[in-house]
Amino acid sequence: MRIKEIVVHYARLLKDVSDVPQKEVMILLAELLRKETSWLVAHGDEEIVLPPLFEEWMNRRTRYEPLEYILERAEFYAKTFYVDSNVLIPRPETELLVDKVVEEARALSSPVIVEIGTGSGIIAIMTAHLLPDASIIAVDISGEALKVAKKNARLHGVEDRIEFIEGSYLAGIHRSIDILVSNPPYIALNEPLGKGLSYEPSLALFGGEKGNEMLCRIIDLYAQHEIKTLVCEMGYDQRIALTCYAKQKGLEIEFYQDLAGLDRGFWIKEQK
Ligand SMILES: C[S@@+](CC[C@H](N)C(=O)[O-])C[C@H]1O[C@@H](n2cnc3c(N)ncnc32)[C@H](O)[C@@H]1O
Repeated sequence: MRIKEIVVHYARLLKDVSDVPQKEVMILLAELLRKETSWLVAHGDEEIVLPPLFEEWMNRRTRYEPLEYILERAEFYAKTFYVDSNVLIPRPETELLVDKVVEEARALSSPVIVEIGTGSGIIAIMTAHLLPDASIIAVDISGEALKVAKKNARLHGVEDRIEFIEGSYLAGIHRSIDILVSNPPYIALNEPLGKGLSYEPSLALFGGEKGNEMLCRIIDLYAQHEIKTLVCEMGYDQRIALTCYAKQKGLEIEFYQDLAGLDRGFWIKEQK
């Protein structure tokens, strides 16, 4: 078959799965042929033998498995990270969380930054890159997720900059913390998931019955441990509940919005 016929034929199978079916077929095919997608466009009339894994990858994608798990990589902050089904696929809005942490950390000298729920390690790794004088501790309750995070830290040359701890919340951390950051699971248990989301680990998605339970627990920990700043990602509809929770604790909470204008995160700072 000619390349352009392959693309049109297989894109039909993805029409309900993806908004950009042709692009996805080209990405999968290009990966297996070890070419750029632009090469496929330029050689559209060329006859090729389909690479052996192509049908299997297409089948996985027609069952809504995310492209990132099939390719075992995802882009975040213009860098490529290894991902598999043990970790949440990095979301672009989480770059805003990194930006906020970096902004807060730059006002401190040699800050100690702790991340709860590091998953693939994207936040800890980008923070290590952007803040060369920071000490970073990354915690996850999932040992499998931590393997992915450590692999990514090695890939990005920052394995010596991050201490990884397998545990829950701040268990096992005995030093004083300047900045606590987290993108914890924040979906409510009964919320119906899109088909693609069901491939991601439940441990990374569900925050409890209401969804904001882990966020509230992290606010408690912030208050108990005399941490300078807390920065978290959250669900777009959790602002009111979190404002009430923080107020009850006597804390002033501020929110940031994502590129769609939705509430996406918050920060709390010690009162001066
Ligand atoms: C939403 S994912 C975030 C992953 C990554 N930081 C990111 O932003 O893409 C949440 C992570 O929290 C971890 N987690 C869940 N409960 C936890 C707990 N009690 N303590 C530490 N980590 C936890 C999950 O294993 C998962 O990796």
